[in-house]
Amino acid sequence: MNRKYRKTIIAGNWKMNKTPSETKEFMTTFKSILPKGRWCDVVFCVPAVCIPAAVRAMRETRVGIGGENMNANASGAYTGEIAANMLVDAGCKYVIIGHSERRAMGETDADVNAKVLAALEAGLTPIMCCGESLEQREAGITEEWITMQIKAGLLNVPEDKIRKVIIAYEPIWAIGTGRTATPEQAEEVCESIRTVIRKLYSSKNARAISILYGGSMNEKNAFELLAQPDIDGGLIGGASLVPEKFVQIIEAANQPTA
Ligand code: PGA
Repeated sequence: MNRKYRKTIIAGNWKMNKTPSETKEFMTTFKSILPKGRWCDVVFCVPAVCIPAAVRAMRETRVGIGGENMNANASGAYTGEIAANMLVDAGCKYVIIGHSERRAMGETDADVNAKVLAALEAGLTPIMCCGESLEQREAGITEEWITMQIKAGLLNVPEDKIRKVIIAYEPIWAIGTGRTATPEQAEEVCESIRTVIRKLYSSKNARAISILYGGSMNEKNAFELLAQPDIDGGLIGGASLVPEKFVQIIEAANQPTA
């Protein structure tokens, strides 16, 4: 983390978990144990049908709600899809784009790029995900792969909008597996992402952008991961489904920094 230059963000990714009623129940417990003073932004990206309940529960707080995906088109014949302005109107401030689970369903870098552009246009903060597979890591092509995903995903994002983008580095082999990247492994990639941003934009923008780590981050390993200079927060799946665990991660983000 480096709170002097950029925001620390702790974001939950609920994936396909919890009903609207369970959302209401979760948020009531969560609000009752959430530390009052805190230095990080807190976000929940929840299933589309849970957005109204989450937004309602968090109305009087600084906790932001987001979608887990969106369609790049503004409207039209896309059965089952959700447009950026629908998320905005429902009260969302964020949207996850290009999660590896969606990429596994066929989402391409071009799709990710179109969604990032549409999200920014609508005023949403995209949380753009990238990450390598175990095969790619073992082949020694992690940095090249991530660089390609970042460059392709950010194509045509103008300089005055880049600071609105949050990047989440999520090694696929660490997601939902309990096998977290070591703080050093995660830092190495997050630092290289910042270098890519520096080359594409400027040092100032690279310094200001928040880069999150995701992949089995939990209440036990969060502190060490967040202590890395280029890890500005977490995108948390499993541990965001339990209020007590998620609050402990927020507390880890409240650590004093140099
Ligand atoms: P996990 O998921 O924390 O359950 O590994 C992270 C994610 O997929 O965003």
